[in-house]
Amino acid sequence: MDVLEAIKSRRSIRAFKNQDVPAEIVEELIDAARWAPSAGNIQPWEFIIVQKPKIKRKLVEAALGQTFIEEAPVVIVVCANEERSSQGYGVRGETLYCIQDIAAAIQNIHLTAYSLGLGTCWVGAFGEEETREILKIPRGIRPVAIIPVGYPAEAPTARSRRPISQIVHYETF
Ligand SMILES: Cc1cc2nc3c(=O)[nH]c(=O)nc-3n(C[C@H](O)[C@H](O)[C@H](O)COP(=O)(O)O)c2cc1C
Repeated sequence: MDVLEAIKSRRSIRAFKNQDVPAEIVEELIDAARWAPSAGNIQPWEFIIVQKPKIKRKLVEAALGQTFIEEAPVVIVVCANEERSSQGYGVRGETLYCIQDIAAAIQNIHLTAYSLGLGTCWVGAFGEEETREILKIPRGIRPVAIIPVGYPAEAPTARSRRPISQIVHYETF
């Protein structure tokens, strides 16, 4: 699929079919994620693949009751290894580069999933401490996004975008 087509036609999917996602496809998503750019090529990403209904249920609770998370056969929790970034770039690495790197990896997952006929949603509203506990995430690693992955059971229309004229500044702000 053409990149621009994928960028423009991907939608957040919050309803999934009761259909498994093969392990090779999940691996393809992670492979795409690790090809994202990262500051100093530090690659501060860590991925937790969740498929057990019991753990998915707990994630729903941590994510303020967003039940579509447990509808998806696979949930990928993308984490930032802040420690690795801070070793390379200090505070800027830990607080800024790290999050940018992870966001790029997350977007690669969304676009690749879409190109493979899958639906995803970037879930950022969740309790970090609760999620950390559920998934046994150690200190120095920060959960950034929960991504339910499955075959879409809905086809939402595009949400609006701010017009280019409102967001572009020429030469100075
Ligand atoms: C950082 C971030 C956090 C988000 N958190 C949530 C969330 O917790 N729950 C949800 O349903 N959607 C969440 N979204 C998805 C947005 O609502 C969605 O991307 C936006 O409305 C545009 O719709 P589209 O993705 O279909 O283009 C999040 C997106 C981003 C980038």
